[in-house]
Amino acid sequence: MTFPITRHRRMRRTAALRSLVRETQLSVNDFIYPIFVTHGSGIKDEIPSMPGVYHYSLDLLQQEIEAVAASGVQAVLLFGIPEHKDAAGISAYEANGIVQQATRKVKEWAPQLVVIADTCLCQFTDHGHCGVIHHDERSGVAEVDNDSSLELLVKTAVAQAEAGADIIAPSNMMDGFVSAIRDGLDAAGYEMVPIMSYSVKYASAFYGPFRDAAHSAPQFGDRKTYQMDPANAREALREAESDVVEGADMLMVKPALAYLDIIRELKEHFDLPVVTYNVSAEYSMVKAAAANGWIDERAIVLETLTGMKRAGADLIITYHALDAARWLKGE
Ligand code: PBG
Repeated sequence: MTFPITRHRRMRRTAALRSLVRETQLSVNDFIYPIFVTHGSGIKDEIPSMPGVYHYSLDLLQQEIEAVAASGVQAVLLFGIPEHKDAAGISAYEANGIVQQATRKVKEWAPQLVVIADTCLCQFTDHGHCGVIHHDERSGVAEVDNDSSLELLVKTAVAQAEAGADIIAPSNMMDGFVSAIRDGLDAAGYEMVPIMSYSVKYASAFYGPFRDAAHSAPQFGDRKTYQMDPANAREALREAESDVVEGADMLMVKPALAYLDIIRELKEHFDLPVVTYNVSAEYSMVKAAAANGWIDERAIVLETLTGMKRAGADLIITYHALDAARWLKGE
């Protein structure tokens, strides 16, 4: 042969060589595990569209928390399913709200685990929106009212911090939620509680199974007036920029798979930790295909999570966390 050949394959010859030059290392420290908690007792109900994910009542939550601690995963994200829903989402910010109760328990059972509380109203409102609704008498239009929603979200965040949450994660997508919650936390003496902001949250069909799980589907309309248009990338930078200015400690991109370019953009533009949420339908699609024997679940999951990290995610919220932690140990 006379033409020059670049020998890329030299470095791929053995597992050891490949490992030596691997650029992205997935680790158990990258994962945050979401958990759904509910009232009552003796409840461990599998979510039909999310095999392997359950609703737990507090009495059965302890075994799950022990499994998380044993897996090496360091953080959980708590979602609550309340007993009672109303127009103002009152059970989100009561001192004995379900997320607050679960937070206290988890901190008691596993003080080293980082407890992240989801701060949103949609599981707690009877209309299923992430804020409160304003009905305009003249036009007859019902809309999510930004600023009155903020007050309730601040109350929710403060109640969660009081219960011992280590991080507040507001997912509601109201304008100004980071500064409102930061002020509220500071005023209540929680200056040291960080905010993981769902900065760039798209109005996505990939939340479908979660809404079944959390009973939080909007009862009218959709979330497109507050969540972002999937077609927009530059707007993501504006959303993230305002959160940085307002005092966010971490920035999130959600969903993950269809938005890897956005993860990369945020990583390049900002110096805060970038989190991505590997959301419910991303999980369900893998589970469904695996149940049919169409894919190798373990290989698919590890490849996908590696892709998210390679794109720039410092942390990944994923329902696969406990499985992935085992697989990384070679189990
Ligand atoms: C609530 C919330 C949603 C998710 C997390 N927090 C759903 C939504 O906005 O409707 C989705 C998570 C998932 O799909 O796994 N605001």
